[in-house]
This record gives sequence, structure tokens and C-alpha cells, in this order.
Amino acid sequence: MALMTLEEKIGQMTLFTTDWGSTGPTIREGYEEDIRKGNCGALFNSHTVAFTRHLQEIAVKESRLHIPLIFGYDVIHGYKTIFPVPLAESCSWDLAAMENTAAIAAKEAAAAGLHWTFAPMVDISREPRWGRVMEGGGEDTYLGSLIAEARVKGFQGANFDHADRVMACIKHFAGYGAPIAGRDYNTVDMTERTFRDIYLPTYIAGVKAGAMTIMTSFNELDGVPSSGNKWLLEDVLRKENGFHGFIVTDYTSINEMVNHGYSKDDAQAGEQAANAGVDMDMQGAVYQRFLKNSVEAGRVPMQKIDDAVRRILTAKFELGLFKDPYRFCNVQREKETVFSAAHQQAAKDMAHKSIVLLKNENNLLPLTNKKTIALIGPLAADGSQLIGPWSGAGEGDKCVSMLTAFQERAKKGEFTLLHANGTDISGTDKKGFGEALEKAKQSDVIIAVVGESKEMSGEAAARADLGLPGVQQALVEELVATGKPVVVVLMNGRPLVIPWIAEHANAIVETWWTGTQGGPAIADILFGDYNPSAKLTMTFPRSMGQIPIFYNQKNTGRPYDPNSKWNTRYLDEPNTPQYPFGYGLSYTTFAYDSLVITIQQKASASTPRPPSKGEEFSVTDTVHASIKITNTGKRAGEEIVQLYVRDLVGSVTRPVKELKGFKKIKLEPGASQTVVFNITADQLRFYSADMTFKAEPGDFWIMVGPDSERLQKKQIRLVE
Ligand code: NOJ
Repeated sequence: MALMTLEEKIGQMTLFTTDWGSTGPTIREGYEEDIRKGNCGALFNSHTVAFTRHLQEIAVKESRLHIPLIFGYDVIHGYKTIFPVPLAESCSWDLAAMENTAAIAAKEAAAAGLHWTFAPMVDISREPRWGRVMEGGGEDTYLGSLIAEARVKGFQGANFDHADRVMACIKHFAGYGAPIAGRDYNTVDMTERTFRDIYLPTYIAGVKAGAMTIMTSFNELDGVPSSGNKWLLEDVLRKENGFHGFIVTDYTSINEMVNHGYSKDDAQAGEQAANAGVDMDMQGAVYQRFLKNSVEAGRVPMQKIDDAVRRILTAKFELGLFKDPYRFCNVQREKETVFSAAHQQAAKDMAHKSIVLLKNENNLLPLTNKKTIALIGPLAADGSQLIGPWSGAGEGDKCVSMLTAFQERAKKGEFTLLHANGTDISGTDKKGFGEALEKAKQSDVIIAVVGESKEMSGEAAARADLGLPGVQQALVEELVATGKPVVVVLMNGRPLVIPWIAEHANAIVETWWTGTQGGPAIADILFGDYNPSAKLTMTFPRSMGQIPIFYNQKNTGRPYDPNSKWNTRYLDEPNTPQYPFGYGLSYTTFAYDSLVITIQQKASASTPRPPSKGEEFSVTDTVHASIKITNTGKRAGEEIVQLYVRDLVGSVTRPVKELKGFKKIKLEPGASQTVVFNITADQLRFYSADMTFKAEPGDFWIMVGPDSERLQKKQIRLVE
């Protein structure tokens, strides 16, 4: 650093994108010059060994100090092998599996010359209108925090010794998942208590798991845009939570502080960002254009610049780039690793775990003894949709569609397959209905594959109506009217509002976007080669007017009573969701015995309390909540057993339930297992009236069940 000029330091704080879109690996001429002059220390949207090596050579051979570049990319749910979208993966509640897919994504990305992924997105969201919920882990803070940790570990691994991992980037800090009215980029406004209890913990879980970088969000929080928010970045993130890595902005979010009305011009925005602790400017070129002047005029202390550069160079050292700037550039490895057969298998495994069975009237599924199957709908044949949004270098035409998977099975002669699109995803043309109905009538079962196009979710993809787009519902209605059994297979990136389908379809399978191996994985579920076990991590509303709807709401002074006018309710809709958080079916059934609570006193307690105190426990005790689960069906299956807690009286009001634990167990038919949850006072902490984070003595409900609604409860008391 002692050798660096101020311009070169600011260069390290500057991140630019290449122009690699549909046109292949290209970069603006000016940017190559920036690399040569040391005015740009990192690039994104630059991948493949050939391209990154070319760019790295410019930095290493032609810049004065030969400092290597970092290459970043949005490797969100896979690089070339595409896994289910993160919201889908979260429904597996399988942390090891999510860590594994992140590790594979990292392995492919690193083999393609990348050092850094802009993932995981850990924004908690209760807003299905917001298109980016597909990128996150759902609505719950506890589960979301564990997922954040798993994904960071998966991407980063223990170290970069083998150059087969990439730096993680926790995003979008902070509160980006709570835009007013669900519109992307919109204002976020919440109390500090809600922020700390619900929204902050997932980011911090990622930080504690060792994430080397974090990205500021586009939104404002309490009137201050994140990229200029000193309280958020320095006090909360660095001082309170010990984050040592570097902070990058989101795309031009420093510049956008002018539109927010927080900065009078780009120059001032740059000063506010640097003084707030932003280390790297993504694409805005604000630091590049103005920061030198601001430092020389004394408006940004040199110390801020040095701190930022030290953090960024430290990351480059940790990646091993100063030892060998080309260590991620091995053509042979790239060929062997990217889209390998083993990774296809992993993609299929994860897809199996992510698919949620929402309805299965009269055990219509799995499909057995069906002689003729009609596969209908705009998403059956179009495999390119399966990769979903934010699919890195994924190629739609490499996905295996449902139609292809069904054709493979039909070849074995077990059934005759009929297929028709019926309509397209969002158009109004019903011309194809005739053919679709014709085929439907000849079949023994109709599979209707409907949902969103991948462009309808992701960034800048908020929707005000979450029904099926176009005339897809009309198509399903006509299919149902044939009187044949109808299985609706949904492909989408968010909870949809589908009350008619929920009532009239005989079976419903939520597949989200299942990735490269989506078609075969969905077919495995439908034909019963895999028994579904996933459970929803976001609530499905009955109607748009219920949004935001989430399981961990407050009780209010007039709790819901459908029969009383003067309680919190709608006149025209129940308060209850279509499908609650934690819900999902299996092809087998599970019986839950009675919940048993026991208290284990701390062994070293000087005066052990007599057992007669039964359900009272102290801060040093552990409460065991145990429950015996039996597989009462005819096939092996997995069950996600969930633990919720309610703090009945607090110095501030508490939610009616909060997820505090879960276990995924596998049981053979007839087999039983006792699941035990350990609960300590630490898990009952929250931001109390004086904003201290603590558990308050008093009564709690311990609730266990298969989802957030069907719960058994027992009351216990925390004593001083
Ligand atoms: C904007 C998105 O909000 C962010 O998530 C992404 O990482 C960057 N663009 C870079 O592509």
C-alpha cells in the first residue's frame, strides 16, 4: 500500500462490469484502459478461463503495480449446472444439501475463472409481490439464518487452497426484502425492533459464517439509503457484529442516492458512501470520478481509503492471487468440472428435495396404472424455463423438460403420452385449447403444467396480480370440466394466489423452477420414484388483499374470530392462508404422539430444584420437547418436524408463534422415531422494551407439529 498512489487506491475500490451479454465476452475499451492504469481493481460478468485470463494478463502485466483483479458474477443457484432456485431449495429444509449445491456452484464458477459470487441473498421477505423472493430462503428468520450460514460455507469452504471455492457476498444489506407494496427498489420503513428481530439476523448469520464480502441494498431504511448509512455499515455491521471483510455496493446504488434525495450530486454521494464505510463502488464510477478530489479537500479522511484498500487487498491475498494470479485459470479443469455428469445428478437430487406436494386428493399421485397421460400446458415442453431467473451461465436448452422426461418413460411402453401446449404463458390466445381438450378427453389423467415465465420473477419483476398469467387458469378450468382427474404442476418463483385451482384440481405439485434436471426430477415425483418431503418456506395467500401474510404475526387486541365483526378480519375472506408456512404433503402419512416436556437442570446447579417444579425452568436449564412420530403409510418417507415457541407476555408484544427448531427424519413404513428438541433460555431472546436482547421470565408455549398450523402445545414457565 505504501507504493500506491491515491488514484491506484481508488482504483482498487472500483468494480466494473464487462459487456458480456448475448454477444459473448466483450469489455468496453475504456475499461481495459482503466485496468492498465490501475483504475479498476475488480470486474464482474467476466467468466470462463479464456476471458478472465485475458483480463488478468492486462492487470498483471501492464499495470504499474501488477495487482491482480478479482472476478465476480451472480452465481446464485449454479454456474452452468443450474440447481433449483434458492426459494425452492429452502423448501427442502436440508441444510447439508444446500451447502452442497453452493459448493458445487462454487466449484464450477472457480473452474471458470471466477473468485467471487454475489450470493447468497438472505433478504427475509413476507412479500410475494416482490420478484426477488425466488432468490432467498423464505419468510422465516430462524430458518433463513441457518440457510445463510450453510450457503456461505458452501461457497467459501474452509479456504482457497485448491482454488475451487469463491468468496461469498451476503446481500442485500439491509431490509431489501420489505419494499412497500412489494415493488422492487421501493422504500423500506420499519421499527428498529422489527429490523433487529426479523430482518437483521440472516445477514449476521452470514457474517458469522465467515462471508468475506457484503453488498449494500438499493433501498433506504429509516430515511437513509443503505450505501450512505453509517449506522448500518459501521455501527451495526462492523462494530456490533465484527464484520472484517469488504463492503460492495449494489449496481450504481451510490449514484442513486441523488434520486433518493439524500445527496445533491454524485460527488456528494461518493463522499457519503465512503464516509459511511462502503469499500467498493459497483459500476457507478463515482469513486473513480470524485473521490480523489474529496480526499484532497479533506471531506473524506485518507484513513477511510486505506481501510477500504487494505480490506480489498486482503481478500486478494486470501484468494492466493498475489502468489499466482492465474490459479483459477486452468482450461483442463474448466472442461472437466463445468456441467459434469456428477453435477447433473446433484441437480436432480436437489430438485427432488425441493418439490412441494400441496394437494393429493384420493391419492391420485403417484401415477400408477394410467394407460394414457395427457401432458398439457405451456411449461411442459419449454425446458428453457426450468433454469429460472439469475441462472448464471446456465443454458436453457441444456435443461431436460418435463415433456422429454415423460417421453423417455413412455418409450418403455408403460403408458401412451399425449401432449399439447394449450396456450402460452402470458398470451390471451385460446386457439390451442381445442387440441388440448381433445387430448385431455382421451386420457386417464391430465397433467397441467402452468405457472410464470422466468422473466416474471427475479430483479425488477414485481407483480400486482399473483394469479396464473394469461389464460392459463381458463385452460385449467376447461381441463377440470372434462371430469378427468387433473394434476396441476406449478412452475413459478413465488407464492401464487390460486384459490380456484386449490379447490378444484385433484392434485397440486409446486415445483418452482427446478433447474437443469427439472423435468426428470418432476417425473420421478409424479410417478412415485421419489416420495416428496419438501415444505413451504413462504405462506401462500388466498387472495391478493391478504398480502403481506406470514405465519409469525402478532395476536392484536382483537384476535381473529371469523364469527365476530369487531375482531381483526376481512369481511370477504378468512384470515387463514391457502397453504401455511411449513406445509407440504408426502405419499405416506405420519402420526404424531403426544408432546412430552421434561426439564433438565444444569448439572452444576448448586441447589437443584425438586422435579415437582415440573414445567418451570431457569436460564441455566434445558427444556426437552420430545415427540414420537410414526410412519403410518405404506412407503418410506421423510418428515420435517417443526418446533415453534410463543412468549405469552412480554415487555413488548411477541408473535403468536416463532420457529425455533426442526428435524428432518426418514421413516420406513410402520417405523417410529422420537424427535427431541432442546430449548434453552438463549433461544427465547428478543429485543425487549429497553432494546436489550434477552429472554424475559414468564410463560411460554412450546408447540410441535408438521407445519405452522397443526401444532400441539404445552406451557412452560421461565423463572428468574
Ligand atoms: C443488481 C442486483 O440487485 C444484485 O443482486 C446483483 O448482484 C447486481 N445487480 C450485479 O449483477
